[in-house]
Amino acid sequence: MTETASTNIIDVRDLQVSFFTDSGVVRALNGVDFAIPHGKAVGVVGESGCGKTVTSYAVLQLLAKTAKITQGTIHFEKRDGSLVDLTQYKPDSSEMRRIRGGEISMIFQEPMSSLSPVHTVYNQIAENLFLHKGMNEKQARERTVELLRLVGISKAAERLDEYTFQFSGGMRQRVMIAMALAPEPRVLIADEPTTALDVTIQAQVLKLIKQMQEEFSLSLMLITHDLGVVAHMVDQVYVMYRGRVVEDAPVMEVFYNPLHPYTRGLLNSIPKLRGPRGKVTSIPGTVPDSYNLPSGCLFHPRCSEFIGEICRRDVPETREVGPNHRVSCFLYNEEPAGHEEV
Ligand SMILES: Nc1ncnc2c1ncn2[C@@H]1O[C@H](COP(=O)(O)OP(=O)(O)OP(=O)(O)O)[C@@H](O)[C@H]1O
Ligand SMILES: [Mg+2]
Repeated sequence: MTETASTNIIDVRDLQVSFFTDSGVVRALNGVDFAIPHGKAVGVVGESGCGKTVTSYAVLQLLAKTAKITQGTIHFEKRDGSLVDLTQYKPDSSEMRRIRGGEISMIFQEPMSSLSPVHTVYNQIAENLFLHKGMNEKQARERTVELLRLVGISKAAERLDEYTFQFSGGMRQRVMIAMALAPEPRVLIADEPTTALDVTIQAQVLKLIKQMQEEFSLSLMLITHDLGVVAHMVDQVYVMYRGRVVEDAPVMEVFYNPLHPYTRGLLNSIPKLRGPRGKVTSIPGTVPDSYNLPSGCLFHPRCSEFIGEICRRDVPETREVGPNHRVSCFLYNEEPAGHEEV
């Protein structure tokens, strides 16, 4: 399975995932392409239900039993430089368990459900150190104190034996980050890591994640429904809609030259901080349910720039329209749009 080394630590191509439920087949991912280059940060944005979490769970093979990867590849470059396709591993295989936690760590969307209320902070962090680092009790205690200090928890040595419910929301999220960093992973996936926090704490936690990413040269996948969050955090942004990436571009390009009508809609729904309180426009309509996907471009029923029958009938191809800038929309189908300076 070993192939040649690449610039991307994770490279996902045409990933399709369906849930086979009693009420029918939910087509959650419909051909997702994305990559995380070594040591870089990518953002995955899109409204609720567009497949952000399912994408990350597919990478880690944490999908529900009812889910099946029906197509596609997830290439991952392991620590030893070999390239493997994670879709080929069984979720509970020893190889997958080694990668999950040992090489790819995740900060989950719901901190309370991923932290145990009946174990101390030390117990939860040390578990990773025993499992992935082979440490003994004394080493694990010292390392846990170091990790807690690293994530900005004061009096770390004293707080080690406390339970997570004794921590505030922001501090709990710091514990989660310490837990994720314990096995010295190479990839960090953070799924809406700050949604449950108030705005000031949100900014602090995001800053901490960014610091850790830079300090440890982590490859980061930051998942959020909020484009505003990715601005200072990532290099490349992937915009997802209904189980597909509809546009991806370097972060500044997304803000200054968004091309897909969906990306533009998301940008218009960010509240403005300065100037007169502009009206926040939300994108009309809702994400279609995954049992009955529309034909053609999945966004066409909500699109403000619908150009006709082609949008209803055909799936737009992904076109490269500039350096690292790709878009799937018939507006850009004629010829690769030039990159005119303005
Ligand atoms: N266990 C499941 N069974 C059936 N359908 C599921 C299951 N988990 C997810 N889905 C479906 O997969 C689609 C994508 O869900 P996902 O959780 O990835 O969305 P998301 O982009 O992370 O949204 P959010 O911003 O709300 O977290 C949704 O339509 C969802 O209903
Ligand atoms: Mg989610």
